Amino acid sequence: MAEDLIIHSATKEAIYQELLPQLKALIEGEKNSVANLANVAAGLKTAFDFFWVGFYSVDEETNELVLGPFQGPIACTRIPFGKGVCGAAWEQKNTIIVPNVDEFPGHIACSSLSKSEIVLPVIKNEKVIAVLDVDSTSLANFDQTDSNYLTQLCAWLSDIL
Ligand code: SME
Repeated sequence: MAEDLIIHSATKEAIYQELLPQLKALIEGEKNSVANLANVAAGLKTAFDFFWVGFYSVDEETNELVLGPFQGPIACTRIPFGKGVCGAAWEQKNTIIVPNVDEFPGHIACSSLSKSEIVLPVIKNEKVIAVLDVDSTSLANFDQTDSNYLTQLCAWLSDIL
């Protein structure tokens, strides 16, 4: 049975340091992908109160990303390869930090309230199998600290997906 998350810290770095081991323990004990992605999205939402946090997985048949477990307002269901920040992170196989979504060519606005964003690829056997997308209502909310910790999280997820 899951315990409540325990987060006492105030700084971003310290919150990640408290949160990640708890999420790791949670996902290591479960093989079901949807359950694990759902709990990771919920854990990140609870710890940081991000506006939107969730996953898109690669649909190889259609060459699109399709919406997976998330927390936040309803979102675009499908994103073509290379489109938006999510599709670009998939195409580039790289993390993309967008300090101001209005300045990202082709940004897909699922909500006008979202102002900045980070998208990380989940890579397995050198292929992108999903992306983690996090949105904030503040400009420039994401930096290298988010990138470092969320990269670690995506590496753990690639092992269980
Ligand atoms: N903004 C993303 C689309 C997904 S939503 O933000 C949840 C993009 O440009 O790919």
